[in-house]
Amino acid sequence: MSEPEKKVALTTTEAGVATETSVAGGASVATEADGATQSEETEQTEAMPSKAPEEMHRRAFIYGLAAMAGCGYAAAIGYPVYRYLASPVEKAATAAAVNEISLPKADELPKGSALMFKFGTAPALLIHHADDTWSAMSAVCTHLACTVQYEADQNRIYCGCHSGVYDPKTGANVAGPPPRPLTLFKVTVHPGSVTVTRG
Ligand code: FES
Repeated sequence: MSEPEKKVALTTTEAGVATETSVAGGASVATEADGATQSEETEQTEAMPSKAPEEMHRRAFIYGLAAMAGCGYAAAIGYPVYRYLASPVEKAATAAAVNEISLPKADELPKGSALMFKFGTAPALLIHHADDTWSAMSAVCTHLACTVQYEADQNRIYCGCHSGVYDPKTGANVAGPPPRPLTLFKVTVHPGSVTVTRG
């Protein structure tokens, strides 16, 4: 069955009220709308598109401000933490890069004695031998990295961890488990100081 044809008729009353009448299948429905109501609806419909972009801009601005504030806050907290964590690493790298050190008054070291000092980050030995010669070397055992000692009475460098023995003039490994000699440094004696240089 085909749907009955819908008929619409508009009439105007004396009070200016437009009446719409639709007739379908014998029944009739009537709606009323005056000119003022239609005008308000039209204004609302036209005003909406202009408010939406304004609201979007306002929200974007607020989000932008919030993001900037968040970044600033993170930087304010993060940078000191970064400096705190990074500084020991930087200091260690700087210390390890030391190639020369001057030891004040080390020229007064008595013959047959040694001075332990820190060369960069590692311990080292300066030895003034009985024959008035000098030597300097790393004090880190080449076996398992214990710190070695100069023993004047036996004229040797000794590692107490596993009884490793080194020659006090050349640093050569002469007994025990150390697999390599101690690293030897260059010594220059000045009036008032001794300079020790790597390589
Ligand atoms: S660590 Fe020096 S002998 Fe083992």
